[in-house]
Amino acid sequence: MKVLVATEKPFAKVAVDGIREVVEKAGYELALLEKYTAKQQLLDAVADADALIIRSDIVDNEVLDAAKQLKIVVRAGAGFDNIDLEAATAHKVVAMNTPGQNSNAVAELALGLMVYAVRNMYNGTSGTELKGKKLGIHAFGNVGRNVARIAQGFGMEVYAYDAYCPDQAMIDANVTPLHSAEELYRTCNVISLHIPATAETKQSINRALLSNMPAPALLVNTARKEVINEEELIGLMQERADFKYVTDIMPAAHEKMAELFAGRYFATPKKMGAQTAEANINAGIAAANQIVDFFQTGNTRFQVNK
Ligand code: 3PG
Repeated sequence: MKVLVATEKPFAKVAVDGIREVVEKAGYELALLEKYTAKQQLLDAVADADALIIRSDIVDNEVLDAAKQLKIVVRAGAGFDNIDLEAATAHKVVAMNTPGQNSNAVAELALGLMVYAVRNMYNGTSGTELKGKKLGIHAFGNVGRNVARIAQGFGMEVYAYDAYCPDQAMIDANVTPLHSAEELYRTCNVISLHIPATAETKQSINRALLSNMPAPALLVNTARKEVINEEELIGLMQERADFKYVTDIMPAAHEKMAELFAGRYFATPKKMGAQTAEANINAGIAAANQIVDFFQTGNTRFQVNK
């Protein structure tokens, strides 16, 4: 049995060592494809893999066609918008994620981006504090909950909106539940996005929604670039000099935004929310364990293409 780890953006070495230990202890073989630059390298590497561990790597119909022996693909992380789930099902491949395993890392980065933005990108000028400010968490999943916990440590007033999460989960976390995205954006000066990229959410962070935010406004995106309507965000930021945007997912219009909004726009060079040793270890080893468990006991608890 061959388990392939295919990561264009590699895990920390300590995480790969941990994955290897789990895989080899089960009597399987580990293959590693890191920092690949062409899709063909992935197509070649998956040819004899029975299981695949990926991060944001694209697993589409072509990859699944090339992976003749593949039975399971595990996205070591939360969002699985990079896997063509219908194609996986059609190829009889079980697709899983590892929910919660990297969420603290992403949440810490969200707060880091917030501090960076309110301190004027560390340019030496006088900024503002987060204490006492209203934070709106858009989607109260694993990352959103961690953001709430850390933001409370900063003394922020925390609100959340999540159509799929009961109020009680927010109340239990000392977070004020709000009942529409409009209400959240109207209430909060700082919004942190934690929605997945789905047909429903793509382009949903648009001008109509963002213009509800009171000044000064700060939008923090550690989720996905596809949820933003970039053209409308640019239009809004051109009209509102108080509006800042900081993101861990470089927009398609990065160069234009960097030029237009110097001092109130920032994007990391590569998505790095989950890029910590701890998150790599947690998500990578969980993925390896889920694969072993799937082969040994048929456990499909974290399957996302049911
Ligand atoms: C996730 O969905 O888990 C995060 O966006 C992290 O993605 P990454 O593994 O590509 O860093």
